[in-house]
Amino acid sequence: MKAGFLLAGAAVLAGRGFAAAKQPNILFILTDDMDSHMEALAHMPLLQKHLVNEGTVFSRHYCTVALCCPSRVNLLTGRAAHNTNVTDVWAPYGGYPKVVREGINDDYLPIWMQQAGYNTYYAGKIWNQHSVENYNEPFVGGFNESDFLLDPFTYEYWNATMTRNGAPPVSYEGQYSPDLTAIKAYDFLREAMMHEQPWFVVHAPIAPHGNVHFAADEDDEAKQSAPKYAARHAHLFKDYKIPRDENFNPAVQDGVSWIAKLPLLNDTVIEYNDEFQRSRLRALQSVDESTAALLQLIDDAGELDNTYIFYTTDNGYHISQHRMHPGKECGFETDVHIPMIVRGPGVARGHVSQAVTSHTDIASTIMELAGRPLENTDGSPMPLSIEAEVAASKTEHVNIEYWGLAIPEGELGRYGDANMTDDYGAAAHAAENNTYKGLRVIGDGYNLYYAVWCTNETELYDLVQDPFEVRNLLGTNHTDLAASLRIADRPIQPIVNRLNALVVVLKTCARDTCREPWKALHPQGDVASLHQALNAKFDDFYATQPRVYFTKCEIGYLADSEGPNYVNQFGGGIHEGHISVSATNKGGKQEGYNRKALDYLGPQHRISIWT
Ligand SMILES: *[C@@H]1O[C@H](CO)[C@@H](O)[C@H](O)[C@H]1NC(C)=O
Ligand SMILES: *[C@@H]1O[C@H](CO)[C@@H](O)[C@H](O)[C@H]1NC(C)=O
Ligand SMILES: *[C@@H]1O[C@H](CO)[C@@H](O)[C@H](O)[C@H]1NC(C)=O
Ligand SMILES: *[C@@H]1O[C@H](CO)[C@@H](O)[C@H](O)[C@H]1NC(C)=O
Ligand SMILES: *[C@@H]1O[C@H](CO)[C@@H](O)[C@H](O)[C@H]1NC(C)=O
Ligand SMILES: *[C@@H]1O[C@H](CO)[C@@H](O)[C@H](O)[C@H]1NC(C)=O
Ligand SMILES: *[C@@H]1O[C@H](CO)[C@@H](O)[C@H](O)[C@H]1NC(C)=O
Ligand SMILES: *[C@@H]1O[C@H](CO)[C@@H](O)[C@H](O)[C@H]1NC(C)=O
Repeated sequence: MKAGFLLAGAAVLAGRGFAAAKQPNILFILTDDMDSHMEALAHMPLLQKHLVNEGTVFSRHYCTVALCCPSRVNLLTGRAAHNTNVTDVWAPYGGYPKVVREGINDDYLPIWMQQAGYNTYYAGKIWNQHSVENYNEPFVGGFNESDFLLDPFTYEYWNATMTRNGAPPVSYEGQYSPDLTAIKAYDFLREAMMHEQPWFVVHAPIAPHGNVHFAADEDDEAKQSAPKYAARHAHLFKDYKIPRDENFNPAVQDGVSWIAKLPLLNDTVIEYNDEFQRSRLRALQSVDESTAALLQLIDDAGELDNTYIFYTTDNGYHISQHRMHPGKECGFETDVHIPMIVRGPGVARGHVSQAVTSHTDIASTIMELAGRPLENTDGSPMPLSIEAEVAASKTEHVNIEYWGLAIPEGELGRYGDANMTDDYGAAAHAAENNTYKGLRVIGDGYNLYYAVWCTNETELYDLVQDPFEVRNLLGTNHTDLAASLRIADRPIQPIVNRLNALVVVLKTCARDTCREPWKALHPQGDVASLHQALNAKFDDFYATQPRVYFTKCEIGYLADSEGPNYVNQFGGGIHEGHISVSATNKGGKQEGYNRKALDYLGPQHRISIWT
């Protein structure tokens, strides 16, 4: 390794004092629905060679909301979903129109990068409900050049429709979408490297998201299916099977709400699901190749020593785990624990970081590299070097949140009657009551997932004993196990009381409170971890905190249905949560959760959601 390489890295990564003379370039690869738990990374040999072996894998990286659009907003703003209030993929609670109305299109990472002197480029999918009809109302902000996939063709692997720099949509019938967006990313990268300024280039292919085909015939339903792959990858992974882990179609089902009621999947579904995952792995091969090709271009230009490469996805995925059909939207590890790899100057090679990080941290991480640290986000810069990892104040929590339905994405899935719309038939048969507040806590000697659902049911998994989250310690099936749980020598009830209070804080946290939630409860600053909070002297204090509950299962962030937003502070006083007042509440147009809001997807209506 070159000495200059190490020195430059140390200067940039030592933290606050930015001595770095030159702002580094950033290449960001953002896949769609990629899993960590069905071996996706292990099946990407070029990624292994160029990123895993040459960079750092963040082995405890999480998305905070397991759905494309809200997660991308979280990633590109550094704000929790309850603060962006983009919580869905469609109007009225999410999608591009909501992004615009919340002011995010004028105030997010690419804009901040431009303000920091970067040229910015984006190829692929950015938002949902960013369509052939609204792509110019207004144009996506913040990119010097862009080529965006547009709805309703976003997930058509062989019929992408894209807008380049805001020009009228162009159809690419017959071209393979992940290869197509890669070619556009190569062009942008070459363009970027011709200028003096540092650059931020994003490639966001749709792989390995399922294929969604919108029939031209207005009577036909849209069809979701496994992703399509290129012919050159068709021969791969014929023997692959989804790992038969303990959570794979379990003989005894646990969990809460609609999940607890799921029947066993039969052999037909299991086989279909294995092939579904094989298709995902094949679709990812295109991304494996293009990521290596992007690195080659950077290397050829001699820029590799001044470039950071981030590789991640918007959310995870489950297939057959917990008896579920292909999909996301859950708080299980399959859905929220996702791949994150960083390579660049000063980032340890072949290292696996144990730091607990999330998508809320990414904007802060990138802006710190750009030399313009952010102050108003809910996250903090990820510790990219080993020195920073050691020095970092030990974050041990991830605030997981979700509002809405759970949609089965395979062709065989049926959960319920919650038809979203007749025009988007693929989304029908969704499960209701999938709104919850979750909390991951990973500290010295403990590893927990706790959640409170809109049905008021609660879940607690001890991932030390139960890494596959199949034994809910707060249900009726595992009372013995629950009775034997000990953390810091304390039993389950004091533990749950602490977790409950932490969720009350996190569900309306903003900025510092999201980063250091224990301080809301202990303003003296003497408690910074679950372990410290478990001191018996705080037992009465935690036993009398407000409880997390919902009065109704809403499909969006309607604060009135979400119970109390304050906690008592140790030593007296009250900490009040922060409820973001949504732009839509400031006089913007309100759209009901009804067919009309989605009608633009149906060729027979063609109404603009902006009229
Ligand atoms: C990219 O856009 C920014 C912001 O508009 C501008 O300042 C910069 O000059 C642009 N770069 C190029 C190469 O046009
Ligand atoms: C491909 O997309 C275009 C719109 O860009 C559409 O007009 C055409 O019907 C689509 N082709 C197929 C086979 O679906
Ligand atoms: C508990 O176990 C029984 C069988 O022992 C099973 O029928 C039930 O679905 C399980 N799950 C829950 C959430 O009670
Ligand atoms: C298996 O389950 C699927 C989905 O529930 C159902 O459509 C199918 O009929 C079942 N097949 C058999 C052989 O029972
Ligand atoms: C959903 O659609 C099915 C048929 O497509 C219908 O039988 C059912 O009543 C609908 N459910 C709701 C809640 O609208
Ligand atoms: C959703 O939860 C409510 C409240 O607990 C319950 O009444 C309703 O039956 C649930 N709906 C479904 C589809 O499970
Ligand atoms: C949840 O509990 C609260 C407080 O006890 C109660 O007001 C509410 O009705 C419950 N919600 C549901 C969905 O059962
Ligand atoms: C979030 O947005 C929805 C839809 O516009 C709105 O009804 C709701 O009040 C907003 N929530 C908050 C807390 O502002």
